[in-house]
Amino acid sequence: MKILVVGSGGREHAIVWKMAQSPSVEKIYCAPGNGGISSLAECLPIKALDIDGIVKFAKENSIDMVVVAPDDPLAAGMVDALEAEGIRAFGPRKNAAILEASKAFSKDLMKKYNIPTAKYEVFDDSEHTVEYLRHQEYPIVVKADGLALGKGVIIAQGFDEAQEAVNSIMNDKVFGSAGSRVVIEEFLVGPEVSILAFTDGKTVVPMVSSQDHKRALDNDQGLNTGGMGTFSPSRIYTPEIAEYCMENIYKPTIEAMNSENRKFKGVLYFGLMLTKDGPKVLEYNARFGDPETQVVLPRLQSDLVEIFNAIIDEKLDAIDVKWSDSAAVCVIMASGGYPQQYKTGYEITGITEAERDSNIVVFHAGTKCEDGKYYTAGGRVLGVTALEHTLDEAIKKAYEGVAKVSFKDVHYRKDIGIK
Ligand code: AMP
Ligand code: GLY
Repeated sequence: MKILVVGSGGREHAIVWKMAQSPSVEKIYCAPGNGGISSLAECLPIKALDIDGIVKFAKENSIDMVVVAPDDPLAAGMVDALEAEGIRAFGPRKNAAILEASKAFSKDLMKKYNIPTAKYEVFDDSEHTVEYLRHQEYPIVVKADGLALGKGVIIAQGFDEAQEAVNSIMNDKVFGSAGSRVVIEEFLVGPEVSILAFTDGKTVVPMVSSQDHKRALDNDQGLNTGGMGTFSPSRIYTPEIAEYCMENIYKPTIEAMNSENRKFKGVLYFGLMLTKDGPKVLEYNARFGDPETQVVLPRLQSDLVEIFNAIIDEKLDAIDVKWSDSAAVCVIMASGGYPQQYKTGYEITGITEAERDSNIVVFHAGTKCEDGKYYTAGGRVLGVTALEHTLDEAIKKAYEGVAKVSFKDVHYRKDIGIK
């Protein structure tokens, strides 16, 4: 098979890496890809949001399957456009990707179908929002409705902070049209777990659990980022919780989407908070998480291409998805200054040395490759991932890998996997 993966981050590197292990794969392309991906796939100068460019390339090159990994092309209808041309595409259609693209939609869906989530209100104008906020208890959560690169959530400690958040989202439009509506949500407390699930709209197969570290600095200090590291499995996601979530969250969500004529096919990501009143959904993502994928896919023993094919054909029930009992840890090595200003273009050394250990794989998030050398090219640069028997061993191994890699101004957390 000839495969085209759309996207350019560590998640896409992990997807390409796993698909490349499938005996059915002849050639992989990635658009636009990155330095590390270019060692496994031919990278194309087509942007991830260029629907016409992707469709044209897939048609002209007889691509057998296009895997759309990032949220924005999914929300913009890339899968629909590919299918309209008879091209097999993996990922939800636009009318299902709305589960991530509109928080107001997802909250209303959960309310309608009794799926546990925080209490909330949706507003279309800032005046009513601010009026409502005057009479609430704090902290409270202010969320831009649309896609905001993971930055559209503000936890306000008091009225002034909430008002400021609403002004910047709705009036100053810091997230563009994503802020035309806001969701104001009850503040929940508890540990967070990420569950990615394969689904063909009929069967839902949760993957192994993982946890993300979103803040930039150790001990969950500093600014929110796209994710500074992950580990799998979660220590707190017990079989009892998994069972509860299957019956009360995963299956009901798939059924709710079917009832709304929005069949969801692809990977559905459940961002859960384990509160004292039970697990609740914080958010849905319509795709693999980043950097969750980097610890989940290395534990997958089954053929990922076979799973994607089964989902496209709605035959996921016929597949036995197998996982290893191992533990995985991914430490993100970022450019100093991320998630704010940072410089790029620095040479990276030591990746080959780190990967000499067969239990380590270095996924590239933001790199470019020139004349056989790697250079930094983004905020998140690398995800050094280790697979071991236990989490403690995997943490140790991942940091052994990190110690071998260097570039100017590197920043990483020292406490990944420890929470
Ligand atoms: P989201 O993009 O919706 O996952 O939100 C980003 C982060 O904000 C989550 O991972 C949580 O840490 C936090 N968050 C979101 N909603 C709530 C909530 N209702 N209560 C407490 N924290 C929240
Ligand atoms: N790691 C969180 C996300 O992918 O949205």
